[in-house]
Formats: sequence, C-alpha cells, structure tokens
Amino acid sequence: MNKNNPIGIFDSGVGGLSVANCIRTELPHEDLLYVADSAYAPYGNQTQTFIEQRSIILTEYLLAQRAKAIVVACNTATVSAIKTLRKMFTIPIIGVEPGVKPAALSSKSGVIGILATEQTLKSYSFNFLAERFASDVKVEVQACSGLVEQIEKMDLEGDKTFALLQRYLQPLLDKNVDTLVLGCTHYAFLLPMIQKVVGDEIDIINTGAAVARETARRLETASLLNTNNRQGIETFWTSGDVTSVTKAISQLWGSTVKVSLMQEGQRN
Ligand code: DGL
Repeated sequence: MNKNNPIGIFDSGVGGLSVANCIRTELPHEDLLYVADSAYAPYGNQTQTFIEQRSIILTEYLLAQRAKAIVVACNTATVSAIKTLRKMFTIPIIGVEPGVKPAALSSKSGVIGILATEQTLKSYSFNFLAERFASDVKVEVQACSGLVEQIEKMDLEGDKTFALLQRYLQPLLDKNVDTLVLGCTHYAFLLPMIQKVVGDEIDIINTGAAVARETARRLETASLLNTNNRQGIETFWTSGDVTSVTKAISQLWGSTVKVSLMQEGQRN
C-alpha cells in the first residue's frame, strides 16, 4: 500500500464531516476522500444488516479510489459493521464510539447523558462500553429520532431543531446529568444550540479530535503516514442529491467544494 494514498471516510450523510474536520487539522498533508451516503440517511432506524451492507459497499467504493485506510465516521455504522469490515478488509479501519469513558471519569454528579441513535443505543457494543467504563455512574440514554434529518436539511438554528433538542435534553437535565456525550457525529454541528439549551454548567463530550489522533496513530503504526509536504486535498461524493449535498458540505466544510455522485457498481 502506498503511504501517499488517501484516507477514505464515510457516514450516512454530512455528520462525519465533524470527524473529517478534525482529521484535516490533525493530518494536514493527508488527502481525504469522503462519501456521504445521503440517499440512505438516516441509518439510525435501519436494521443492522442494512447498515452493514451499506458499510461494505462504501468501503469497497473508497478502496477502489485507492484508500489506504477507512474511517467509519458514524457511530451507528461503527456499532453495526466495524467487526465485519475488519474481517473483510486488511487495511486499518478506524471507528467512532460515544465518549462514555471520559464522561464517566469527569462527571461530578455521577450521572451522564448519552445522545445517540436508536440503533447505537440498543447495540451490544454500546452496552458493553457502558458496562465496562461507566459502571460507577448512572448512564441515562436518549435516542434523538429526527435530529439527523434536521442536520441533513441544514436546519442548525431553526425552531423545529430547537424544539427537538429541548424535548430530548430536558429529561436528562431533570435527572441531574452534568456531562453529555454526543454519540452521533451529526450532533457536533448542533453544539451551539445544545449548549444554549443545557447552559454552561454541563460538559459536552465529542470524540472527533480523539478519533483523528487515533487515525494518526494507526497510520503511523502501519507506516502509512503521508510523506508529502503539500497541503492535502479533499474529494467528496454522495449517493443522494448532489445539489443539496454540495450546499450542505460547502457550508459545513467552510469553503465551496465539488461533490460528485457516487456511482454504485462503478468501482473506479
Ligand atoms: N452520523 C451518524 C452517527 O454517528 C448518524 C446516524 C444516522 O444516520 O442516523 O450515528
């Protein structure tokens, strides 16, 4: 594998850009490939088998674009598919998972709240994580149905998104949660609004930067860090509507980008 090949990243939609942003900061010389599987978002209410199938298709697509490593920038896809992906493919595959451990360590009230999709919260991996690292605290979970759709529509500041957040966050506040884990990569883009709803006293844990550091570590261990001195470039695809996804990605990435249609079945 050539160390100057790109890193492949995927998510059900634009949420994984919150992780890609951190990877860009951590690894400025790496080329990044990003697929937003918007035609099939949200993954949160889908079956594990479906998400696993999509994850295999997206990984194969990125491999055909010469990816040297894959970052599954989606908690739901990680809990549903990462074991299968690691069995099927030999390149480094990095996943994301809710920051249960740092939350449990930093909580003073002894109650932590987890925001994630239905599929993540009911998964074996998440429940194993909570048992292993948060047995000393109370873990209050909240599935946030409808939130990913709002972010895909780029409604990051509107009344409907605010009302949904109030509905999901107030019960956690009532239970004395003092640390909140963003267990879905989409939710990072709602950070200002979440902070507005919960106030400054609540700690919010997002794992994007930790995933970027882990990606760097895994590439280094595999002797796959890029040796270029130039700034890395990004290439974007979506399985959904190119016009609206281009707008969304450009806004979230902070510059005008080109997004191409992911042609399934086409491997190059
Ligand atoms: N970004 C995905 C995650 O981290 C969103 C899942 C969805 O599409 O529902 O879980």
